[in-house]
Amino acid sequence: MVMFVIIIVIGVANSAFMATSNAKNLELQQKKALDSVASVKAFADVYSVLMSPRCMNCHPAGDVPLQGDDSHPHAMSPKRGKDGRGIYAMKCGNCHQPENTPGLHMPPGNPKWALPPSDMKMVFEGKKPRELALQIMDYNRNGHLNKAQLIEHARDTLVKAAWNMGEGRKPPPLTYKEFVKAWDTWIEKGGYAPKQ
Ligand code: HEC
Ligand code: HEC
Repeated sequence: MVMFVIIIVIGVANSAFMATSNAKNLELQQKKALDSVASVKAFADVYSVLMSPRCMNCHPAGDVPLQGDDSHPHAMSPKRGKDGRGIYAMKCGNCHQPENTPGLHMPPGNPKWALPPSDMKMVFEGKKPRELALQIMDYNRNGHLNKAQLIEHARDTLVKAAWNMGEGRKPPPLTYKEFVKAWDTWIEKGGYAPKQ
């Protein structure tokens, strides 16, 4: 009789536990689904900036940077080189100073002006949203950045440089503040990649 009662008590407690844990699971699943929708939505905004000439010109598919709002190949074809800073006499820093050089068609500047290195090219040019989202979230293809470092990267001076690139160069389609907000939302909600 005692056994019987214990079994019933365990049974009731157990099913009550199952019911709450099922509800919890469902809640978690629903939250995850909501997060992935919000994350993918934020990435659409992020992508519009990544593919704008101010970012893409330094993230080309080839080894020569791109120039201008039409992203044509860089005049005189400076090459990426192993560290991204150019080769021989065509070092980026010869022409690109720590600050923008004033005037139309003068080189924009930043102390770190370079392409990504040859062993980790971080190509944006030609990438579909899904491909690019997966690439940026991939530790082995993003310069070995973890989640916190990725969040931090939106605050990098090279990224900020896109909003101050000197005379005659259109800024990216979002303001810097809007970009950072979309970037953070995308990553904090899970860094999901869109379906295509
Ligand atoms: C011989 C000088 C020179 C060298 C070397 C040089 N650049 Fe440039 N770069 C320029 C000039 C000048 C412009 C501006 C051209 C214009 O606006 O018509 C420019 C523009 C650019 C732009 C375009 C910015 C934009 O958004 O439109 C990028 C990107 C760029 N350079 C990257 C590089 C990189 C990376 C290197 C090294 C691998 C490099 N450059 C080496 C002179 C140089
Ligand atoms: C002057 C060239 C230059 C410009 C302009 C530039 N980048 Fe980059 N970017 C780099 C270099 C070099 C690296 C790798 C070294 C580093 O992390 O600083 C990099 C790395 C990155 C990374 C991390 C690696 C990855 O997963 O791709 C992201 C994200 C990124 N850039 C985004 C941007 C965005 C967004 C813009 C425009 C708002 C931008 N970049 C403009 C040169 C540039």
